[in-house]
Amino acid sequence: MTAVETLQLIASEVKACTRCGLHVGRTRAVPGEGPPDAKIMLIGEGPGYHEDRQGRPFVGPSGQFLDELLGMAGLKRSDVFIGNVVKCRPPQNRDPQPDEVATCTESYLFRQIEAIDPRVIVTLGRFSMNLFLPGEKISRIHGQPRTVGGRLIVPMLHPAAALHQPQNRPLIEADFQRLPAILAEAECAAAQQASAPAPRQDEEPPLEQLRLF
Ligand code: URA
Repeated sequence: MTAVETLQLIASEVKACTRCGLHVGRTRAVPGEGPPDAKIMLIGEGPGYHEDRQGRPFVGPSGQFLDELLGMAGLKRSDVFIGNVVKCRPPQNRDPQPDEVATCTESYLFRQIEAIDPRVIVTLGRFSMNLFLPGEKISRIHGQPRTVGGRLIVPMLHPAAALHQPQNRPLIEADFQRLPAILAEAECAAAQQASAPAPRQDEEPPLEQLRLF
């Protein structure tokens, strides 16, 4: 199955999903959107009022700010895939519960990541960050890329955090402005890895590898 087909299949499953209680209150589920071969994937928390009405991610005030932030990184919305930890709006925008997060990510988000295979994942807010960097504090590590499972994760504040607390604005803007350099570095590392000669079977393993045994 191609990435397009896999993403279409996931979207149709999300729209019909009844795997957790969040489906009861939704108007529309929000599978996420963007090019299937996006180099950058942004992961928010979950749909809010406007997203629930329209079935699209980040289309309310946070989304307008996200578009501005993408512009500061020289990117357009259509360049990136935008998804969420949970695909249905939690009632009154409450935090998603651990069982809802586990069900939705295992059923959908992780499959989307696998299909898109982005070079860089930008997590927006602590729920998204916690999937990859559990136990970390976003106020401490925002903007610092980390490699997790062979992929670059860039934790960032949620755009709503800057809308609610304007003192956060310069932080999130600076983090987004560094995104092109982070992507370029990730691309360079991937190209180097792809062009490195495969080790010969009869060669001794390098020292670091030996130390693993
Ligand atoms: N906030 C999110 O985390 N996701 C959306 O899609 C919209 C607002």
